[in-house]
Amino acid sequence: MVEIKIEKPVSRLQRISIHSHIRGLGLDENGRAIKVKDGLVGQLKAREAAGIVVEMVKEGRMAGRGVLFVGPSGTGKTAIAIGIARELGEDTPFVAISGSEIYSSEVKKTEFLMQAIRRAIGVRIRETRKVYEGAVKEVSYQFEKNPFMPYAQIPVGAVITLETEDDETRLRVPEEVAQQLLRISVKEGDYIEIDEETGHVRRLGRVQSKSKEEYDIGGPRAVEMPKGSVKKVKETVHTVTLNDLDVIAVMQRAAYTSFFGFLEAEREVSPEIRKNVDEQVKKMVENGRAEIVPGVLFIDDAHMLDLEAFSFLTRAIEGELAPILILATNRGLTKIRGADVEAPHGIPLDLLDRLLIIPTEPYSKEDVKEIIKIRSDEEGIPLTIEALEMLTNIGLEKSLRYSVQLMEPARILAKREDRVKVEPVDIERAAKLFADTSVSLELTEKYSGKFLK
Ligand SMILES: Nc1ncnc2c1ncn2[C@@H]1O[C@H](COP(=O)(O)OP(=O)(O)OP(=O)(O)O)[C@@H](O)[C@H]1O
Ligand SMILES: [Mg+2]
Repeated sequence: MVEIKIEKPVSRLQRISIHSHIRGLGLDENGRAIKVKDGLVGQLKAREAAGIVVEMVKEGRMAGRGVLFVGPSGTGKTAIAIGIARELGEDTPFVAISGSEIYSSEVKKTEFLMQAIRRAIGVRIRETRKVYEGAVKEVSYQFEKNPFMPYAQIPVGAVITLETEDDETRLRVPEEVAQQLLRISVKEGDYIEIDEETGHVRRLGRVQSKSKEEYDIGGPRAVEMPKGSVKKVKETVHTVTLNDLDVIAVMQRAAYTSFFGFLEAEREVSPEIRKNVDEQVKKMVENGRAEIVPGVLFIDDAHMLDLEAFSFLTRAIEGELAPILILATNRGLTKIRGADVEAPHGIPLDLLDRLLIIPTEPYSKEDVKEIIKIRSDEEGIPLTIEALEMLTNIGLEKSLRYSVQLMEPARILAKREDRVKVEPVDIERAAKLFADTSVSLELTEKYSGKFLK
């Protein structure tokens, strides 16, 4: 016999983002932060506060409100926001954008924000179907002569008996269903489903006890004898976002007007279409067919937003269908973009009033060391004890982000000398080659006359 081994593909291009080590908020069952857990270290108060935000989101009690992470650069604001996303799980939409993105997009700033907001609101749609489901006990067809080809026979109906462990039902089915049964050659022992409304037939498998054959390739899946009654109500649930529904609505409309219309779909959605979608969703919610899942819109570097964007957001979070807004910034008192006034964190006061503020504080040496250890594990870059110490000091003196970023160049420098472990010399050389912002600022001052203005 030939033994076939399947090797796991090794993906060399696996992308390791600077926050890939974060798996959650690292809280215990009482919501208390554990010093080192889920990839997060220290910053206990901020993590506990974030845990409360997660609970509020899950209970749908954050409408019209938001959260603002404030703290110096490299203190884990983005990291903790990502922890929140992990805790919320896949079913709750979490949309992350950076404040500066509103300027780079091809659409208007407010349209870009509107799309982001609508991507952050989920709609859980429940669909119920009535079906007949069971193992085929018996099937017989009635044929008639084809009026155009007298030698051929066509099925005009069938009688099929479906059974489960607890039930047995005999069904008389019309021509369309009989044809499908023949086409997929339904046999005794097949486990099938017939949709009551559409008459659509699906084979779900083959009941084990009835099938002696076992196939290696293809063939129906072997299943146990089904239980319950033959007539069933089946429920399927899927979650889409309001933006998905907008895009579908635009495409449907475009299909009537022009073929190329749908290419524009992602770009701009008219307010009228959105209103329509909202109304339909509300109807579905009233009929108990859908449920709104408010997600999170996370805007990193929120001080990059301008006055127009801020007032748009303030209005939007008060709307009926609104996500929870999470902002992060490392700015103190500064000018609001697009206006000539200063405000705390560059955020207008009427929005600031609606935000719960979570401060993050500079790390202790011990915390920085722990974070660097986690990153060296995550990136698969072994460090000597001295190298770890050196990176820790750089993290404290310059910035944690800079220190984390030096790791990879240092690894390459070590590899050139045939060493696997990164040593202090590698870090020293990497730090000479790559400047941190304080150094690059010094340089720009020094040579200011020679830079483009
Ligand atoms: N408490 C922590 N536990 C584990 N890793 C952390 C923690 N805080 C920060 N990090 C990591 O350190 C690096 C810098 O942190 P982060 O980017 O979250 O800082 P920030 O506060 O968002 O800074 P900025 O204001 O410059 O955006 C990232 O790689 C991040 O994942
Ligand atoms: Mg950040």
